[in-house]
Amino acid sequence: MTQSKLRKRISVANQKGGVGKTTTSVNFAASLAAAGHKSLLIDLDPQGNASSGLGLDRYSAKTIYDVLIGRLNLEESIQSTALENLFVIPANQNLIGAEVELINAISRERKLKTALKNLPEDIEFVIFDCPPSLGLLTINAFTASDSLLIPIQCEYYAMEGLGQLLNTFQIVKEDLNEDLKIEGIVLTMFDPRTKLTHEVVREMKSHFKDELYETAVPRNIKLSEAPSFGKPVILYDHESKGATAYMSLVEEFLKRNSLPLPDWREKLAALFPEDSIQESPGAEELAAETESQMAELEEAAESPGRVKSGVELSFESSETSADREVAVSASETESGEWKSPYALERISEDIGDGSSADA
Ligand SMILES: Nc1ncnc2c1ncn2[C@@H]1O[C@H](COP(=O)(O)OP(=O)(O)O)[C@@H](O)[C@H]1O
Ligand SMILES: [Mg+2]
Repeated sequence: MTQSKLRKRISVANQKGGVGKTTTSVNFAASLAAAGHKSLLIDLDPQGNASSGLGLDRYSAKTIYDVLIGRLNLEESIQSTALENLFVIPANQNLIGAEVELINAISRERKLKTALKNLPEDIEFVIFDCPPSLGLLTINAFTASDSLLIPIQCEYYAMEGLGQLLNTFQIVKEDLNEDLKIEGIVLTMFDPRTKLTHEVVREMKSHFKDELYETAVPRNIKLSEAPSFGKPVILYDHESKGATAYMSLVEEFLKRNSLPLPDWREKLAALFPEDSIQESPGAEELAAETESQMAELEEAAESPGRVKSGVELSFESSETSADREVAVSASETESGEWKSPYALERISEDIGDGSSADA
């Protein structure tokens, strides 16, 4: 008998919609896979965005719903993806029924945990993309998980609802899964040019000093485009800020879990052998990307509820090949200490307290 290689089962959760759960689930799992860790992403949202974002057929007969109602064995429902180490169990609207159908089932909160007994032994990480609610599906995910990864969008009322989420975490911990932990809180759609972002960082830091990840995921157009190509961003544009941010997030996660860090240069060279003969990205391509990102940022800054600080940072607008370099060599600092190229600290230093906005 071989031994299970399972290291961690992680729920990506926040009952607010549109905060970056699916984007984080898909790209966190894909970066883990690219780093060499066999990972299984389980789509638990009836909208099936993680499934379609990875190019899977949502109307497939093999979904997590079939597993939860006992029609399929978990192992039979696993599908492969374009990334060698990334596997997925898809979801579709059928899953809405599960919330109702399981209501009277015995151990209804433990269905997913029980199903995971059939997890293939070579899977190292399981990631659950939770739906935007704290219902039975989310409770099942929490019961089957070792930890929660909580994406928070940098916006007004960013913390609203967080109390409710942490309350559900406590209830599950007390009644169903005493070992459940908070893996971390990750800021998403980060835009260092707004004062608001800075305020959210400050507030999050004061409340969640240890839980808050140093790596923040910037707002990046490639992250929103990739799903329509059925790809994780690392396969869509592995040099984009979005891709490097998720690689960096995985590094921080591995570091926090005392696991060895990947050599991204080597991993990326294996994934994209044609890159070695290519020059750095064309200036035209970069200019086009920057322009569309700027337009997106400006639009966002003008919409109600957002404050434009007037501070111009080099975070998103000047993606040079030097920037790209630093992103994949995040672990190499002089002191030997790990440092994320997307570190909040660095951004806080850049932005100061806002008083030097015109400096
Ligand atoms: N860092 C980001 N930069 C740009 N767009 C993003 C980013 N993260 C998420 N998005 C976009 O925001 C929308 C909501 O994100 P999603 O991950 O689906 O959130 P959730 O799963 O919490 O509902 C999607 O259209 C997604 O493409
Ligand atoms: Mg989602």
